[in-house]
Amino acid sequence: MMEDLKPKALVLVAAAVGVISPTVAAQTSESGNFAQGRALYQTHCASCHGKNLEGQADWQIRLPNGRLPAPPHDRTGHTWHHPDEHLFRITKFGIVPPLAPEGYESDMPAFGDVLSDDEIWSALNFIKSTWPDRFQRRQQDVTRRAKKQ
Ligand code: HEC
Repeated sequence: MMEDLKPKALVLVAAAVGVISPTVAAQTSESGNFAQGRALYQTHCASCHGKNLEGQADWQIRLPNGRLPAPPHDRTGHTWHHPDEHLFRITKFGIVPPLAPEGYESDMPAFGDVLSDDEIWSALNFIKSTWPDRFQRRQQDVTRRAKKQ
C-alpha cells in the first residue's frame, strides 16, 4: 500500500520526477473538459496548491495560526486517498462538517459561489489526470468503495 511510503521518500520521488507534464496523462472521467480543467486549476487553485500541484512548503506543519498549509495535489499529497465525492464537497463547500469537525478552521476556500459543479469536476479531473495510472486506479477503487457505503 502506498501509505507505507515515508514522506521523506515521497519528497525525493517528487524531486526526481521534477515538473509534472499533465498533458501526457489520460483523462480519468467523462465529466468536464481537460483544457478547461487545467485553466481553472491555474486560475483558482495554483496560487495555493502550486503551479505544478506541489503544494505549499512544509505543508504537513501547521502555521503559527494553527491552520494547515495547502497540501500538494500531486502523488506526494493525499488528494488521491479520497473518494471523488469528498474532493468535490471540499472544493464546493470548503473543509466543513461532515468532513471536518464543527468549528474547524481552514484556509481552503469554498468555491460554490465561484465555480459551477461542472467546473469543479473539470478542475478535479485535471488534478487526477496528472497522477500515474496506479494512483488513478487506487483513487477509483476508493471512490467505488465509498459509493457502496
Ligand atoms: C487560498 C488558498 C487555497 C486555494 C486558492 C485553494 N485551496 Fe485547496 N486547500 C487549501 C488548504 C490550506 C488546504 C488544507 C486545509 C486543511 O486541511 O485544513 C486545502 C485542501 C484542499 C483539498 C483537500 C485535500 C486533501 O488531501 O485532503 C482539496 C481537494 C482542495 N484543497 C482542492 C482545491 C481546488 C480544486 C482548488 C481550486 C478550485 C483549491 N483547492 C484552491 C488552500 C487553498
